[in-house]
Amino acid sequence: LTERIICDPHHPDPVALMKAADLLRAGQLVAFPTETVYGLGALAFDETAVARVFAAKGRPPNNPLIVHIAERSWIERVAVDIPPVAYRLMDVFFPGPLTLILHKQARVPPNVTGGGATVGVRLPAHPLAQSLIRAVGAPLAAPSANRFTEVSPTTADHVLKSLGGRIAAVLDGGPCAVGIESAVLDVTTTPPTLWRAGVLAQSTLEASAGEPFQSPPHTATAPSPGQFPRHYAPRARVELQPFGDIKGIEKRLAFWSARGRRLGAVVLSEVDVPPDVTQIRLPSVVAAYAQQLYAALHALDGQLVDIIVIEQVPATAEWDGVRDRLIRAAHEPLPS
Ligand code: TXA
Ligand code: MG
Repeated sequence: LTERIICDPHHPDPVALMKAADLLRAGQLVAFPTETVYGLGALAFDETAVARVFAAKGRPPNNPLIVHIAERSWIERVAVDIPPVAYRLMDVFFPGPLTLILHKQARVPPNVTGGGATVGVRLPAHPLAQSLIRAVGAPLAAPSANRFTEVSPTTADHVLKSLGGRIAAVLDGGPCAVGIESAVLDVTTTPPTLWRAGVLAQSTLEASAGEPFQSPPHTATAPSPGQFPRHYAPRARVELQPFGDIKGIEKRLAFWSARGRRLGAVVLSEVDVPPDVTQIRLPSVVAAYAQQLYAALHALDGQLVDIIVIEQVPATAEWDGVRDRLIRAAHEPLPS
């Protein structure tokens, strides 16, 4: 059984924190909140513990994990040949929702990096994440705490729904404030490559980096290991409709409703929906939308809807991170 360890982020109970830290030091898996989403933690330098992460998630071994540190000075324990641009970014965004891809230290086990020579490193801004990692005294490898391809968890309940019975414990520090995963920026390439957009706008990151980034190359296979097209997907099928196309959204809902489908709608605009449709209207401010998106998808999955019609977000740069997640959620299931 998976234990829920409730802990106030700002005044963590030392006994609760030690319980979670002891489990981790013993090689067990403990999920914990970060400001973006809940992570599934394991000792980053313990190859056996890291292997348990892949088993619990059902994650393919070529999909690397992010290593979480509690203090900026720990970066040298994980990475080598750190370029100046990385330090410029760390000055501003460590702690924060940014993952930097760097050359790995020899001691980082190969299963953390998917066999590769680079490692993702992040210093989360969540006080409980920092307290936990500090209590463990060593970096934690932590992917999002969900089964492979599922929507990331932003509450401890989401974690338990997905991984209950498969992990030792979840440290419950309440809902996450950011709500979508960190931006993933590779600073081993020149210019740096933005593998995954987050809530930090690309232009904001570029301003601190002092140089423009390149977009990931388009290849038939997954570009960043793990950037699979279908990811962050609810159980229900997702249909995207253009931003502001109220008539189009109403038409799709009426179409599926007439065919007896159980429906959910996630919208920004005011839309007239059939009475049997669960409508979730999200705020039109990016930060608030991102914070609530995954909870909306989890809630609709909980209602066992067949189809979720989602209004696409505006095509502006500040929405890049959210738009990326919606496109992935709507991607057709991979043939198996
Ligand atoms: O906000 C977040 O990043 C959350 C919290 C828990 O920190 N973590 C998270 O981890 O979203 P995960 O494993 O679900 O996503 C990590 C992403 C994947 O797309 C993976 O391919 C990429 O980061 N990644 C990790 N290491 C990499 C590397 N060495 N090179 C390229 N991409 C890497
Ligand atoms: Mg994930």
